[in-house]
Amino acid sequence: MASRLQRSTLKLVNLARTQGLQTALLHATNAVAWHVVPSRRAFARSLEHERVLAQEFDQTYGVETAGESPLTAVGVPPEKAGRGNGLYRGIWSGVFHDALRETQLPLERFTFVDYGSGKGKALMLASAYPFRRIVGVEFAPGLHEVAVNNLGVFHSPGQRCLALEAVCADALEWEPPVEPLLCFFFNPFDDPTMERVVTRVARSWRQAPRDIYLLYVNIRDVSEQAHVFERHTALTPVKRGRHCMLMKVTAGR
Ligand SMILES: C[S@@+](CC[C@H](N)C(=O)[O-])C[C@H]1O[C@@H](n2cnc3c(N)ncnc32)[C@H](O)[C@@H]1O
Repeated sequence: MASRLQRSTLKLVNLARTQGLQTALLHATNAVAWHVVPSRRAFARSLEHERVLAQEFDQTYGVETAGESPLTAVGVPPEKAGRGNGLYRGIWSGVFHDALRETQLPLERFTFVDYGSGKGKALMLASAYPFRRIVGVEFAPGLHEVAVNNLGVFHSPGQRCLALEAVCADALEWEPPVEPLLCFFFNPFDDPTMERVVTRVARSWRQAPRDIYLLYVNIRDVSEQAHVFERHTALTPVKRGRHCMLMKVTAGR
């Protein structure tokens, strides 16, 4: 206990030295909140539980998706890591399947695109549905490489889509394919980046009108970023729950 306290104190002193007192205080307040705020404590328990499930997924399929990585540790420069929310974390299987079920779309007509595909967990989970094909776009070279390895070994008896592809690119520069799309976002970007990516998708729709749906998933609460979608004139809301939001790209309001 004493050594844990010492380690935490040392970390804060270092943080204050390198990033200033304000950052250190913010960090300390956050750390305390994880222990005392009921919603944060519940989320911390879910994180622990999902960590175990993620390890089981990896063991079952011989892949590597579990754990979290700061984006700066997997080849993303600090200025870009900030607009990518700073962290890799694989989607939780239960939340993913709930969100996909909620869409009630004829999935066999769609290409699934995971914006910020990390190590490919959502791509592998999506292959249980009859998509035309599945594409993941990831800008961290270290994560993309793991995704390619994962897709190379992944096989599941329940697999209904075999056309899986991982692309290493920045979502801000990647052109969406001219096909009906279900664009999946597991909380990958900060607000300005999300807005720019949505604008890019909407522009692609204007150039070639087709069915394009956006599925935004947040394991805490979609209200964290719902405002970005709600104010975007090219999006029409379809459904909203606590963890997922479905929108359709249309001609605009
Ligand atoms: C929360 S992780 C989600 C991983 C994956 N979608 C999944 O569900 O398992 C978000 C991912 O978005 C990626 N990302 C953030 N900004 C990006 C950008 N501009 N272009 C491509 N990928 C980006 C991060 O590197 C990170 O791997």
